[in-house]
Amino acid sequence: MTEVAMQELQSKERPALTGQVENMEQYDTIILGYPNWWGTMPMCVFTFLEAYDLTGKKILPFCTHEGSGLGHSIDDIRKVCPGTEVKDGLAIRGSAAASSDRLIKEWLKQNGM
Ligand SMILES: Cc1cc2nc3c(=O)[nH]c(=O)nc-3n(C[C@H](O)[C@H](O)[C@H](O)COP(=O)(O)O)c2cc1C
Repeated sequence: MTEVAMQELQSKERPALTGQVENMEQYDTIILGYPNWWGTMPMCVFTFLEAYDLTGKKILPFCTHEGSGLGHSIDDIRKVCPGTEVKDGLAIRGSAAASSDRLIKEWLKQNGM
């Protein structure tokens, strides 16, 4: 799996998604969660972000990781989503995810949610 993920990253693949968000225009804030894979988002998350016109929307990114935090994912989101307000994001260790409710609630509150 890690090798396939690395190949997808190196060849800038955009794996197809099996679903889509109906009425994306109804949303003004997108809370975007993903695991840190090789310092950034899984390539299918790039597929997702590029599938919609997100201009004018706010993106709140959060990731799980095992040491690298958000990596360069925030810069990558800003590159693929010009015209959006991309917040700094929240990084949570995968092993701490189940006990991070309070942290997540505080982060959402700080970001006006
Ligand atoms: C393909 C792959 C690449 C990964 N690359 C990183 C990485 O660069 N930095 C990091 O901190 N964790 C990395 N991880 C660990 C994941 O971020 C971690 O497993 C995940 O966030 C926790 O979710 P889980 O408990 O469902 O595995 C990687 C995991 C996989 C499968």
